[in-house]
Amino acid sequence: MDLVGAGPGDPGLLTLDALAALQCADVVLHDRLVADEVLALAPPEAERHYVGKARARHSYEQGSLNELMVELAQDGRHVVRLKGGDPFVFGRGGEEAASIAAAGIPVRVIPGITAAGGCAAYAGIPLTHRDYAHSCQFITARRRHGAIELDRDGLARPRQTLAIYMGLSALGEVCDELTDAGLAPATPAALVERGTLPDQRVLTGTLANLPDRARPLALRSPTLLIVGDVVRLHAALHGERDASPPVPALE
Ligand SMILES: C[S@@+](CC[C@H](N)C(=O)[O-])C[C@H]1O[C@@H](n2cnc3c(N)ncnc32)[C@H](O)[C@@H]1O
Repeated sequence: MDLVGAGPGDPGLLTLDALAALQCADVVLHDRLVADEVLALAPPEAERHYVGKARARHSYEQGSLNELMVELAQDGRHVVRLKGGDPFVFGRGGEEAASIAAAGIPVRVIPGITAAGGCAAYAGIPLTHRDYAHSCQFITARRRHGAIELDRDGLARPRQTLAIYMGLSALGEVCDELTDAGLAPATPAALVERGTLPDQRVLTGTLANLPDRARPLALRSPTLLIVGDVVRLHAALHGERDASPPVPALE
């Protein structure tokens, strides 16, 4: 059984091991974030099942998904559990690998490019840079019991980039939390929607104005929020890959 990272969207970002696993799959269990072009790399006769979760619209309970993976693998089929990005970054890959291993089935984890790496590269925003950021935190801004949960400790460290997953639906709250945690309202921030895909859009601004700038664009998931001085480099580095329409310039 292979637990495979499909990367953030562009099929060119699959690893050779991920491609090889897909090409000999009997069954592919995939999330919403896996691009159709990636699924098309499995043999035509392979079964494909969508088992993902959309926020507040759970299509598959984690427990029954774990049972399904175990049953399919026990039938002797080559099962590929294909997850967006990297399976071990905000993807419950650890829980899935543990439950498969607990059933006595060997599991191979094939890493993928996580959204932060893919979005940053395709948006021309280096996550670290000698002049702007010496560290980068990957964090999630998921809601739990209605409120967003951000661990404020360390968020406002100088010369640090924050890559914030799942932050779009609570963007205003996230930006407020970051300023409450000590970041200046003028801190540069960017949203990367559908990063690495041909219709990627990048919107830049500051913690103070990004929510207002985002509203008329009606950005949709998946979108990654990048916060920190490295965002200043977007204007110079976004290059040919950035298919996004013109966006408001950073102040
Ligand atoms: C449940 S997390 C899964 C993360 C995934 N395991 C990874 O390593 O990228 C989903 C979040 O990842 C981010 N994301 C994933 N793919 C993305 C993409 N192509 N463009 C922008 N953000 C993306 C978004 O913030 C989205 O809400």
